[in-house]
Amino acid sequence: MTIETISCTPFDDQKPGTSGLRKSVRQFQTAHYLQSYVQAMFDTLNQIKADNNPQASLEMPADTDNAHSDRTLILGGDGRYFNREAIQIILGMAAANGIDQVLVGKDGILSTPAASHLIRKHQALAGIILSASHNPGGPEGDFGIKLNISNGGPAPEAVTNAIFSRSKAITAYQRVSGPLVPLHQIGSHTLGRLQILVIDPVSDYAALMAELFDFNKISALIRTPGFSLRFDAMHAVTGPYAKQILERELGAAPGSVMRAEPLTDFGGGHPDPNQAHAKDLMALLYAPEKVDFGAASDGDGDRNMILGHRFFVTPSDSLAIMAANAPLIPAYRRGISGVARSMPTSQAADKVAEKLGINHYETPTGWKFFGNLLDDDRITLCGEESFGSSSNHVREKDGLWAVLFWLNLLAERRASVADIVRSHWTEYGRHYYSRHDYEAIPLASAEAVMAQLRAQFAPLKEAGELVGKPLKTVDDFSYTDPVDGTVSPQQGIRIIFSDGSRIVFRLSGTGTQGATLRVYLEKYEADVERHDLDVQEALAELIQLADQVGRISQLTGLTRATVIT
Ligand code: G1P
Ligand code: ZN
Repeated sequence: MTIETISCTPFDDQKPGTSGLRKSVRQFQTAHYLQSYVQAMFDTLNQIKADNNPQASLEMPADTDNAHSDRTLILGGDGRYFNREAIQIILGMAAANGIDQVLVGKDGILSTPAASHLIRKHQALAGIILSASHNPGGPEGDFGIKLNISNGGPAPEAVTNAIFSRSKAITAYQRVSGPLVPLHQIGSHTLGRLQILVIDPVSDYAALMAELFDFNKISALIRTPGFSLRFDAMHAVTGPYAKQILERELGAAPGSVMRAEPLTDFGGGHPDPNQAHAKDLMALLYAPEKVDFGAASDGDGDRNMILGHRFFVTPSDSLAIMAANAPLIPAYRRGISGVARSMPTSQAADKVAEKLGINHYETPTGWKFFGNLLDDDRITLCGEESFGSSSNHVREKDGLWAVLFWLNLLAERRASVADIVRSHWTEYGRHYYSRHDYEAIPLASAEAVMAQLRAQFAPLKEAGELVGKPLKTVDDFSYTDPVDGTVSPQQGIRIIFSDGSRIVFRLSGTGTQGATLRVYLEKYEADVERHDLDVQEALAELIQLADQVGRISQLTGLTRATVIT
């Protein structure tokens, strides 16, 4: 085996965002661009081992020079354009960077939660997931690369920061050249000393789901005459997983899984499971002919949207309802230790945790902040308003898991989605919730909104009032990880009113064009008589206030958000 060393000029823009490095395909195709970042990842993995940095919690084998050491990597992606080319490049570089074994999904496919599971199952050193999540694909779309560590979760900031600084110093990378690895069939190959196993991407994940949920009960529900469901895979990674689990194992009618074939450009769509981007599914669930249950997942299979007949479940409510009903599910029969939500997610889950007397945490946006809480068993369930929820079974959010949780719940309660949500509101009150996104605006305008908010509330306000509305507090959210003490400051401006209503402002960390301002609005309503208002109407006062305080229309020129979920 000859290791080639290829010289390159360092890049200065490889800073990972909320979820890995995400850029346009064109940018990733720039000479040496992907290679430079991958080399920075391998160097960081080795450096962490050398430093034995406990904070990064990477468990490296003791002696990596020993031929018997097992440095296993899990590799796969959401099937988007450039996925297979990138996999071949990474395999060549893994062979040159001391990796012993790579498990790669057939056709280069692995959903994010399936990859997380495989890392844990094989006690792998790390995983590399190729995805730009819900961003559009194709040659003009986006590409992305994420590193997951040995607990199966996204690399924490200590690691992503280290990769970024290393990337700025990469002047050469190592690779081994060989024939292309045939990814289209399950099998074993070698590249130099590297063992490559092309594996079935679905079977391990499907087996895990069967352990967590009552498949017999779900199957009985699905086969009940008159019951129907639709799952929209959005031509992204969950197609093969949903076909196997929902149709073949649980007996949903063939065709229940829509847009099941993964396509490199997601059929030209935007693989984001929300009301705006899953229009066909929405139309089916809101049609007069009854479909009892609808769901969708995103590009890499970690997000979920849950629908009932003519009913949309907010992700924040979904998390709260899961927490309240967890003991009905086999995996959580003995109860849950706690629940965490990202800061902008509604406080609905907190209400449940308070009633149950279990832990609850508020973390910054992004899944990486849940890892320590899960590893330390402080929480069992966690979720984000951005259509993400999961549990301690993996260290990523998990779209199909959420779908199966809801199906198991419907099977246990034998009630409709709408009835389950309404009865939850009756018990805990309703958190009216909406997110208003101002997408792809000039970075300068987005930063101007945030800067003037920070200036307006410096020193940050305790109590007082805002345009006549009594305030509880205004702050720039700072999180101290209770497990390792890491502080993550400036995570978004929170305006919290005395009645529990909130307006949160933050900038997206996943966009690839300009900037995206996110405004999160939440209003609590205990009165059952007032649980049927139109969401935007219920939030109208807060929406108007957000524009006024954030000076959004003035600074961005937009009088309305570009996407409202
Ligand atoms: C968005 C979501 C966030 C999620 C992330 C990755 O990040 O808001 O909750 O974890 O995508 O799916 P953002 O663009 O807001 O930084
Ligand atoms: Zn995703």
